[in-house]
Amino acid sequence: MPFQIVRNDITRMHVDAVVNAANPTLLGGGGVDGAIHQAAGPELLEECRLLGGCKTGEAKLTRGYRLPAKYVIHTVGPVWKGGASGEETALTACYVNSLELALEHGCVTVAFPVISAGAYGYPKDQALDVAVRTIGRFLDAHEDLTVYLVVFGHAEFLNGKKLFREIQEYIDDVYAEERLHGESERARRNQSYSLPKPARPKASRPEEDIRECAAFGYGAPAADDDLLAVPDAASCVSPDWEEMLRKTDEGFSAALLRLIDQKGMTDAQCYKKANVDRKLFSKIRSNPAYRPSRPTVFAFAVALELDLGETRDLLYKAGFALSRSSRFDIVMEYFITRGNYDIYEINQVLFQFDLPLLGSGMNAC
Ligand code: AR6
Repeated sequence: MPFQIVRNDITRMHVDAVVNAANPTLLGGGGVDGAIHQAAGPELLEECRLLGGCKTGEAKLTRGYRLPAKYVIHTVGPVWKGGASGEETALTACYVNSLELALEHGCVTVAFPVISAGAYGYPKDQALDVAVRTIGRFLDAHEDLTVYLVVFGHAEFLNGKKLFREIQEYIDDVYAEERLHGESERARRNQSYSLPKPARPKASRPEEDIRECAAFGYGAPAADDDLLAVPDAASCVSPDWEEMLRKTDEGFSAALLRLIDQKGMTDAQCYKKANVDRKLFSKIRSNPAYRPSRPTVFAFAVALELDLGETRDLLYKAGFALSRSSRFDIVMEYFITRGNYDIYEINQVLFQFDLPLLGSGMNAC
């Protein structure tokens, strides 16, 4: 996977290189720096003494010693002074220079902490945003690299952010709406239609639905709307039957390839924008019966900038239905209905809500 945000202790990451948020002396300190030195053992400090320090925004490499990682890349983030002192440029340089150094040493997996977000006082939401966007841009040009952004414990990165509060309110509103109208609406429909309903799978919590469906390729239960939908008058007057039949028969893979063509994108543009790695895309491409996970479908919907109807269609091809009782789907609905297809922003929000990320999933490494 090209980019993942994970909750973990960076000293436990089994990667080629972990990045240390160090200070200019490179002689150790608190926070992640202290944890890395402690886990790597005193040999790390010995080697650091030979490096002659490091300037803000630059990066230097040592061995990893007792860490599971082969290398430690030490970089010095900016101290937050209010944002007008070149902090963002310096922080961006930390990520880029660390990644360049990792590539020079043949690394293919790299783990970062959220640099400057602790003792150096960078506002956490902004530090996370710089990290996610800078790593994302770098990966556009280096698709064989996998980068983990490691968030320690349950630090609340976006809680103060307006967008986060708005989405929380949106979820609450949808839940309240569903609770108020759900039962009476279902009762009304049951009276109006006499179609037999297929047996529904045992109810489970929304997030479990996502994970189970994703893990086992099950189709989620279809919403009542889908089961009982009646074609509207316009579609009965002059239907393009050939097109309709083709669309009905096509699986997820064919639908995806058709949409990529329709949107005038190349395959690479699409899977990169979806944060889906090339190997997975090749699998989808070559297997007409491929069943993607729900987050993968949404990742492509975002990359292709589909509207809600088109997203629903694509989900359907993969055996899923858009659900208003799933927090994951509601967050996605929020972004899609607002035409916000910024996968970096979406993934930051999904991460904060402890939901699977688009394209990459949220694995603890
Ligand atoms: N794994 C992953 N992330 C961690 C870990 C860990 N084991 N421990 C802390 N973090 P900080 P800075 C997170 O203060 O702001 C040192 O003393 C932490 O929650 O480690 O760049 C250096 O010597 C926070 O989100 O680094 C410097 O003097 C993030 O890592 C100074 O601190 C960075 O917090 C550097 O400050």
